[in-house]
Amino acid sequence: MQTKYWFVDNHVDMLVTYPQIKEAAQLLKKNEVVAFPTETVYGLGGNALSNEAAGKIFAAKGRPADNPLIVHIASEQQAADVAIHISATAQKLMQEFWPGPLTIILKKQPNRLSDLVTAGLDTVAVRVPDHPVALAVIREAGLPIAAPSANRSGKPSPTSAKHVQDDLDGRIAGIVDGGSTGVGVESTVVDCTGSIPVILRPGGITKEELEAVVGEVAVDAALTDAQKQPKSPGMKYTHYAPNAPLYLLQGSCEWIQSQISDQQQKGKKVGLLTTEDHLSFYEADVILPCGNSRDLKTVAHCLYDVLRAFNETDVDMIYSETFPTAGVGLAVMNRLEKAAGHRWIHEKMKE
Ligand code: TXA
Ligand code: MG
Repeated sequence: MQTKYWFVDNHVDMLVTYPQIKEAAQLLKKNEVVAFPTETVYGLGGNALSNEAAGKIFAAKGRPADNPLIVHIASEQQAADVAIHISATAQKLMQEFWPGPLTIILKKQPNRLSDLVTAGLDTVAVRVPDHPVALAVIREAGLPIAAPSANRSGKPSPTSAKHVQDDLDGRIAGIVDGGSTGVGVESTVVDCTGSIPVILRPGGITKEELEAVVGEVAVDAALTDAQKQPKSPGMKYTHYAPNAPLYLLQGSCEWIQSQISDQQQKGKKVGLLTTEDHLSFYEADVILPCGNSRDLKTVAHCLYDVLRAFNETDVDMIYSETFPTAGVGLAVMNRLEKAAGHRWIHEKMKE
């Protein structure tokens, strides 16, 4: 399949009138699948009402069929088209955080969405993305749009159209290139089907921000205990892994440098994921800075690009610094842990 590319400037008014957006929306209406930017990562969109379109999404990504997709809508009002029993808490969250990086799990409207989209569950994940291109595409298509991250399954999510091209060129109908995404990690997934909202996947909206609006918010036990079965099907899969094995190093910069030097003496080429403000502490074969440790939003923004960039190098292993889990740090560490397959090396474990 020949993949079409459209370039759009995010800053123009009335994007819906643009021929690129109209063409992309037209393909969505014909049950083709098209990638577009959101404020978090690029999504691979398809008509959420169609088994044909949903089937193409799963096939293009190589995604396991038991992992449901997020349904993207253009406004809060559209939520009632796909979901029922929307609680007062869910409504509060929508009002406060939509459009934005928050996905809300609700009971699904029966007999409306493709069963492939919801992986046969009786719930649906819904969000309104905060990106002019995503909103224009959804509005123009006039459909709820199922959109997982636009990467091959297991790879880091794409934060640029180039990442999507690397993974999916020739496998999908088109890519709307609206530049790099902002947040850099995916939306927070929060289950609002019970009395207390439960975070199933940490993301762009922090636990602290949710609590400020609705009070008590729980975190799925599987996020802190690897033995527990996650409530979100997608969270059980290995994700985001670069080609070389990644290790999370918890300790001082001096100790991390000594670990790098030890490996180099054994003839290994070592890559290091650190931050701009720590660059002067290290010598390694490849050093890639990922934001600034004093502002974890900058780390989230660069994370997937840096993980992908290591694949362009010939390192044998990647060492990464770790980050505090407050605020968006919870999402950053969740993704790093998955990328590392939970391989940690702690300074205290030395010798
Ligand atoms: O920021 C994002 O959320 C991006 C952009 C494109 O919107 N999308 C995204 O989709 O990250 P995806 O498919 O990569 O991740 C969706 C996550 C998966 O972990 C999936 O298991 C979970 O949401 N999910 C979807 N429907 C669910 C449901 N009904 N119940 C529990 N988890 C669900
Ligand atoms: Mg994904």
